Amino acid sequence: GKIAVLMGGNSAEREVSLRSGQAVLQALQSLQADVFAIDIQGHAVNQLTDAEFDVAFIAMHGRGGEDGTLQGVLEWLDKPYTGSGVMASALAMDKWRTKLIWTAAGLPTPAAFLLQQDSDWDALITALQADAIVKPAREGSSIGMRKVHSAKELQESFGYASQFDALVLAERWVQGAEFTVAIVNGEALPPIQLKTTHEFYDYDAKYQATDTQYLLPCGLAPEKETELKQLALRAFDVLGCQGWGRIDVMQDKQGDFWLLEANTAPGMTDHSLVPMAARAAGMDFPRLVTLLLQEAKG
Ligand code: DAL
Ligand code: MG
Repeated sequence: GKIAVLMGGNSAEREVSLRSGQAVLQALQSLQADVFAIDIQGHAVNQLTDAEFDVAFIAMHGRGGEDGTLQGVLEWLDKPYTGSGVMASALAMDKWRTKLIWTAAGLPTPAAFLLQQDSDWDALITALQADAIVKPAREGSSIGMRKVHSAKELQESFGYASQFDALVLAERWVQGAEFTVAIVNGEALPPIQLKTTHEFYDYDAKYQATDTQYLLPCGLAPEKETELKQLALRAFDVLGCQGWGRIDVMQDKQGDFWLLEANTAPGMTDHSLVPMAARAAGMDFPRLVTLLLQEAKG
C-alpha cells in the first residue's frame, strides 16, 4: 500500500524529526516503495484527511507527534500507523507519569519531585542528595534540561525548563554509565552505552558532537546485559507500548540499573541509536523501516 511518512511538526524537536523523516523516506524510496512525506504543520487533521495513504510511518518527536494526539487522529481516520497507540504514547511523553507507573510496577527509577514556583528549594536539593537533573516533563532530545548542584541552580533551572513545559521535574542524578535499549517488534536489540564529554548526554552530544562515544557491544557482562534488556522490555510493556521504542537507563556505581524514560518514536537520524542497535543485530536501515511498517496496527 501507499505509505505516508509523517515528519516535522511544531515541537521543539522539529529539526530532529525532519532528519528522521528524510532518512525513513530515502530508505523506502531505495526499496522502490510507494511513499511520500507529509510535513505536519498546524492542522494535522486537515492534512491527513486530504492525503491518500494506506499506512503512516510516524517520524515525529515530541508533542503533537509522539504524545498520542496524532495517533488519535489516525485512529479516527482508521489508518494503521507505526509504534505505540494513544495511551502509551501519551504516558511515555510524560516523564513524571511514566515514573509513577514504573514505581507502581516495582521497577527502579530515580526519585524525582515536581517543581513549582513556591517550591522549598533547600529542602528539595537536600532530598535529592545535592545533584539533580531538571527536566521539562514532556520534551525530548534533552531540550530544556540542566544538571544542578545547588538550591540556587535548582530554582534557576526550574525557570529555564518552564519555558518548555508547564510540568517540570527534578530527578536525582545517578552517577554512573548511561545505556539505551532499542526495542523492535517485541525484542530488545543490543544495548548501547553512551559516553559523552559533556556534563550529560545533551542535545549537542546527541546530534552535533563528534566526540560522543557509542559502545556497542555495550561493555556489560553477559548476565548484566540480559538483565538490562529484560528490564527495558518490562518498562516498555508496563506502559503499554507497542511496535518499537527506546528505553534510556542509567547504571550506578554499584551496578544497579535505573530507568530514565521511554521514547515511543525515537530518533531515526544518522546519529540515532535505534538504527545503530539494529545494524549491530544485522538489520540495515531499510530493513528496520520495513519491519516497523509491517507491525503497524490497523
Ligand atoms: N527524542 C529523540 C528523538 C529520541 O529519543 O531519539
Ligand atoms: Mg525522550
